[in-house]
Amino acid sequence: MSGVEGMLPVTVPNRRVRATYDRVAGLYAHTIARFEAPSQRRAVAELDLSPGDTVVDIGCGPGRVLPALADRVRPTGEVLGVDAAPSMLAQARRRAGRTGVTGRLSLTLGDARRLPVADGAVDAVCVFDVLDLFTRGDLERVLDECHRVLTPEGRLCVVTMDRASIADSTFLRAYEWAYRRVPRFETVGCRPIPATAVLQGADFAVQSVTRLRRGGIWPVGVFVCTPAGAADSPTG
Ligand SMILES: C[S@@+](CC[C@H](N)C(=O)[O-])C[C@H]1O[C@@H](n2cnc3c(N)ncnc32)[C@H](O)[C@@H]1O
Repeated sequence: MSGVEGMLPVTVPNRRVRATYDRVAGLYAHTIARFEAPSQRRAVAELDLSPGDTVVDIGCGPGRVLPALADRVRPTGEVLGVDAAPSMLAQARRRAGRTGVTGRLSLTLGDARRLPVADGAVDAVCVFDVLDLFTRGDLERVLDECHRVLTPEGRLCVVTMDRASIADSTFLRAYEWAYRRVPRFETVGCRPIPATAVLQGADFAVQSVTRLRRGGIWPVGVFVCTPAGAADSPTG
């Protein structure tokens, strides 16, 4: 994958990252996930879903955006939440029950690198605050899986910390410092990635980028992409 120079390496295996998220699912659901949710709901709006669409949320965690996704594809569409941490799925299941969207929603234990989804089966894929967990090799695997499951006209929406913003953001520089220096920080995994290069390197055409600041300080990018070569892509 070219253009990713400067991206910090992930040195802990993904199974340890998953195990950490599994342990902290309850706490995560009520703290960080709550803080992330408004920007993720904005990303859902940018994805421009239609009634009847099928959408997968990869690494859905406690499922805070699943009701918004289900709302957009109703009455006939379907939402699939996939996560590798059983406790995260338990949180998502409880939330789905409370919000009454269970009929249009499936939750599946699965690995983003081997999605339990058929080829060409979905109109949209969401990867919200997840892509920045993976090693270079796993980034390629996950994005290959996104290609595999999307229809040719499908869309991928990624929310991530973007390394392109690092010069303008004390928060991101401090975050990278902590990622390198604080023991066990890597087991919760996320670090800024050069998102455009990563996505283009995996044969996605970036159609739009929206930059948001969570709580006024935490910058994230919302990237809406199509498979490169799709009729309406800029490189198309
Ligand atoms: C930072 S959390 C984001 C959760 C959710 N998207 C959100 O923003 O609230 C990362 C999620 O990725 C999941 N995860 C980590 N590695 C994974 C893998 N290989 N396959 C699927 N999910 C994974 C974790 O269990 C966790 O729920």
